[in-house]
Amino acid sequence: RHVLVLGGGAGAEHDVSIGSAAAVREALLASGHLVTGLTIRRDGGWETISGAQIGIAAAIQRLSESDVVFPALHGEGTEDGTVAGLLEMTGVPYVGSGVRAGALAMDKWASKLIAERLGIATARGVLIDGEDEHGDPAAVRLPVVVKPVASGSSYGAARVERAQDLGPAIAAAQAYDPRVLVEEFVIAREIDVAVMRRADGELHVAPPLEIGKDTERLFDTALKYDAAPDFRVPAQISAEVRARLNAAAKAIFQALGCAGVARVDFFVRGDEIIFNEINTMPGMTEHSQVPRMFAVDGVTFPELTARLVAAAYA
Ligand code: DAL
Ligand code: MG
Repeated sequence: RHVLVLGGGAGAEHDVSIGSAAAVREALLASGHLVTGLTIRRDGGWETISGAQIGIAAAIQRLSESDVVFPALHGEGTEDGTVAGLLEMTGVPYVGSGVRAGALAMDKWASKLIAERLGIATARGVLIDGEDEHGDPAAVRLPVVVKPVASGSSYGAARVERAQDLGPAIAAAQAYDPRVLVEEFVIAREIDVAVMRRADGELHVAPPLEIGKDTERLFDTALKYDAAPDFRVPAQISAEVRARLNAAAKAIFQALGCAGVARVDFFVRGDEIIFNEINTMPGMTEHSQVPRMFAVDGVTFPELTARLVAAAYA
């Protein structure tokens, strides 16, 4: 099968996506696929993986001529349903979530409200939208984390300890999204759960992964990418907590209507589980969380990409 891998994007996570796309192409080659690629440049233009610039009409032509498209794209302007919408209109099968799931998952406020409605705890938080605040600011105590509602890889996110630092942190987050979320900083273990919808429609939940770090520190962009993060799979948690994490991750995946694979990130404090966020196009290098989690379940990275492609046809 001829798989076209999409990478890049005009958003902050361009480089992260370039890394995912290269790794996915390699994994697909290893699992016996015919592979090509297209890159969305920082300026929003398109180019082939050999670097030749092409127009959007030619890009759409190439997308529709492939058997299946594998978007390895992260963040605002791609993962948020934008690319799924383009692919829907070409009619080509594609890996992963559709428009609605991508849009809801990219919105940290919307996904938080949905989690709460499902009975899954989230950090106390307020949405700042221009002059308006939604939620109860008095209930949110320092330290907090300030983050753009629609961003990824922690771009624009900061931990704030002092009231006087709040304004500048909000302004910095607004550079990424005018809507900003201010949440109480949860001092807890951080545990990720990967959920994949298989070709037969069943959900496969991989063993949970713990991010080994100081619980007082934000898992920020530097910790994520400057050096290899300390991932521990499977996370050492009780069977009871693991079962609740799995159930919560599946419930959110289904409420949003996700497809392909999504990574649902939680805080775990004692027996308490707190939803942080969901990613419908999670990082996809061999060292990223999702491939690491499936590897422990005996699903190699090439096999994982092959299963995602198979599910795109189902
Ligand atoms: N947004 C990054 C790529 C992730 O969630 O893995
Ligand atoms: Mg994210």
